[in-house]
Amino acid sequence: MALVVTSYIHLKIKARMPHNHPTLINKRVLLGITGGIAAYKTPDLVRKLAELGAQVRIVMSRGAEQFVTPLALQAVSGHIPHNAQMTAESESGMGHIDLARWADIVLIAPATANFIAQLNQGSGHDLLTTVCLATTASVVVSPAMNQQMWKNSTTAENVASLIERGVAFLGPDSGEQACGDVGPGRMLQPQDLAQQLAGLFQTRELEGKHVMLTAGPTWEAIDPVRGITNHSSGKMGYALAEAAAEAGAHVTLVSGPTSLTAPVNVKTIHVRSAAEMHAAVFADIAEQDIFIGVAAVADYRPVDSSDQKIKKNHDEMTILMTKNPDILADVAALKKPPFCVGFAAETNDVETYARAKLERKKLDLIVANHVGGSETGFGSDDNIITLITSSSKQDLPRASKSQLARHIVSRVAELST
Ligand code: C5P
Repeated sequence: MALVVTSYIHLKIKARMPHNHPTLINKRVLLGITGGIAAYKTPDLVRKLAELGAQVRIVMSRGAEQFVTPLALQAVSGHIPHNAQMTAESESGMGHIDLARWADIVLIAPATANFIAQLNQGSGHDLLTTVCLATTASVVVSPAMNQQMWKNSTTAENVASLIERGVAFLGPDSGEQACGDVGPGRMLQPQDLAQQLAGLFQTRELEGKHVMLTAGPTWEAIDPVRGITNHSSGKMGYALAEAAAEAGAHVTLVSGPTSLTAPVNVKTIHVRSAAEMHAAVFADIAEQDIFIGVAAVADYRPVDSSDQKIKKNHDEMTILMTKNPDILADVAALKKPPFCVGFAAETNDVETYARAKLERKKLDLIVANHVGGSETGFGSDDNIITLITSSSKQDLPRASKSQLARHIVSRVAELST
């Protein structure tokens, strides 16, 4: 059974009430502003999003500029807002596809009745509508309009149809309106909107589960200053740890040396060698429901590691190496193994090699990682992956590692319960 995912928008819609102070740390929010009076509140909204940790980029529709100035938004976001036009010049910078890929979430606030209609039609007549069509990120709409326009049956049909297709709505609020009417149609207050947006990332799909991950490379010392290692930034493993914690899991991250900051709400154990990683994993593996091996573990280590720096006295040097334990295979071979997920970073014949690994290591799921391209894989923020089980295959389009991490967590939740 082959399944191609074209959009990740369904993920956040499973979100329920937020718990333990959701944040937007490491989240890239693309704020789309359309032409409603509530646009005057967006500089405050940008601040509230930033206070929760978000990086914010802005796209304004032509109408939005009637209500709020690009300069005010630049001052609070630190970036020049993108305007409605798609010109050769703007496309040569961060064009519509780059913006669409950059976003973890697209928030349209305020969203007018007109914009909601265009979104429902799949219109792509300006930068904002085009980004909404091109993104795999969740699109979240915060409506703001006159109460009668909100109640209008065409608007209601557009909203229902968008919800059906996975677009989330935050608000509107009810109360007195700029036009003097009273009723539903006010944009949520910036503080509430920012908090509810952060809450959407907390899916609770792994509520109460214990998840352990390995991440980063390992370092096999030759002497105190030299060693053998693998190419790995740790970004994918850290993004997965963060996504699992946001999904409500108790997460333990066993990390080799990386330059990354430990994710919040994650117990992070720092190790250097494969042997240390193996020991840290097995110290607590009995407690785990799910184990995800993301680390690029060195396959071999020097038999002897010198205590002192080895001098360059010889033209040649031979290092005798011995095989490292396969941490993931050892976990999967336990009498009562957790749900086991592995990674297969391959440059060619990706599916064939990944399937072989799935069977050989007795895994429940393998994430095949295409590391051939220069813009994805090692060190990059993006990845292209395929999720493979013994009976299914799911190709995910190019997306940021954090977006992919949320999708993998969702799939793991589905398969492991
Ligand atoms: O065999 P290969 O290294 O390609 O397998 C990759 C998968 O196995 C990854 O999930 C990696 O984290 C895990 N692995 C491991 N211990 C090793 C080698 C790989 O846990 N010694």
